[in-house]
Amino acid sequence: MNTPDSGAKPTTVVIFGASGDLTQRKLIPALYNNFKKQRLPQDIRIIGVARRDWTDGFFRERLRDGVRDNSAATYDDATWVALEGKLHYFQGNLDSAEDYGRLQTHLTVLENGAADRLYYLATAPEYYGPACGHLAAAGMNSDAGGLRSIIIEKPFGEDLASAQALNERVHAAFREHQVYRIDHYMGKETAQNILFLRFANTLFEPVWNRRYVSNIQVTVAETVDVGHRAGYYDKAGVLRDMFQNHLLQLLALVAMEPPASLNADAIRNEKAKVLGSIRPIHLDNTVRAQYGGYRAAEGVAPDSSTPTYAALKLHIDNWRWKGVPFYLRSGKAMAERTSTIIVEFQAPPDIMFKLGENRGFTPNMLSICIQPNEGMQLRFETKVPDTVAESHSVNMNFQYRDAFPGVILPDAYERLLLDALKGDASLFARSDEIEAAWRLIDPVLRGYENSPEVSPVCGYPVGSWGPAEADALLAREGHVWRSGCQSCGEGLCAIP
Ligand code: BG6
Repeated sequence: MNTPDSGAKPTTVVIFGASGDLTQRKLIPALYNNFKKQRLPQDIRIIGVARRDWTDGFFRERLRDGVRDNSAATYDDATWVALEGKLHYFQGNLDSAEDYGRLQTHLTVLENGAADRLYYLATAPEYYGPACGHLAAAGMNSDAGGLRSIIIEKPFGEDLASAQALNERVHAAFREHQVYRIDHYMGKETAQNILFLRFANTLFEPVWNRRYVSNIQVTVAETVDVGHRAGYYDKAGVLRDMFQNHLLQLLALVAMEPPASLNADAIRNEKAKVLGSIRPIHLDNTVRAQYGGYRAAEGVAPDSSTPTYAALKLHIDNWRWKGVPFYLRSGKAMAERTSTIIVEFQAPPDIMFKLGENRGFTPNMLSICIQPNEGMQLRFETKVPDTVAESHSVNMNFQYRDAFPGVILPDAYERLLLDALKGDASLFARSDEIEAAWRLIDPVLRGYENSPEVSPVCGYPVGSWGPAEADALLAREGHVWRSGCQSCGEGLCAIP
């Protein structure tokens, strides 16, 4: 992964929807950083396709601003100048078969021989299916002149039926091994570290099961509100926006069985298997809520019932996890930005020590901080010095910034784009994973439409940890939400 890839074949990256935010903020900065680390093939060209009447010069300037703003720590003029000659703009309409023909001719001239091609659909989702069809009709899917692959952004469908229909359209144009469905959470350094934690150590795996684990919590909290995305968000809501993809993918990494290797199919077989083992979700094991003032945001329907927060209790019906609740929660406009997974272990069968004043028993906990204070903490009990039997909770703390000083954690897109260029799909979702996730979320969404009274939309104040109903969901089993990754950097210092 860290070696330069100068021997790689000539390569073309074609970004559809290149005038958009994603290209400027994420894709080009990611390619820039890979270029700077000499990880891109030497013979590479990056073509941005969009409708606007732009020149190469204008396109490049815009992208340079994007790299400067979004990758300030690594930006330097010399690297940019070396990269920008490889960037080109092509004006074309995604609806026009003729434009794909023109693009194909243009690419063939630029490539001047065999080249691998990576298409990136950074477009509005309604173009995903049609674009695949057009690419196939123009012969641009054929591996004859070099390998062809395609990255498809989220959202992949808006329910199970539309995801299945999209998979069919994609498969009519590309074979599964050519398709990379991106979930940027899988590109986060700390998410990948879950596999290392579990399978590069012998310490954790023996207790990673129903015999020792009491419950597992996945929290993805954001402080931002819907901002300018209300048009999309008010139709999608938090379950489509965050749960069907990011939260369930994280859960799959935590709960899956050990894969036989790091091979893409070995990993994805296990993820698909565990997603398929999750019990259908009862509406009364869900909480949905909207932050105060959401309906007043521009683009939001005044009577909108779209949830901006949700909490779910899931059960995985297999030998490892039978009876262990998995609690998932995510919301916007919350108290803190944090993505954390907490594995809470069971209490000892008998507690013979004195617990600290005003404090009940604190279980052992492993906290995996995905962001922003990337690291892991293990919470355990110790004896308070100079007492006979008083117990106190402490942390063993691993922080990336301390263990790897000076290392800038790469943005998720940096790793994912490089993997796709190298043909490694292990961090991308396969069609069956996507459909398994929709099989869980879709009935919940339909349940909300058909029986809204079972889990009514509740409210929560901006800047809070969500509604009291979400606390009640855990209280039913004697559990509480655990916080981790505190901004004080002390790990689980604010455990309730
Ligand atoms: C996106 C969602 O997939 O993930 C956004 O559409 C959300 O609504 C974002 O804000 C969160 O990503 P991150 O990397 O900032 O946690």
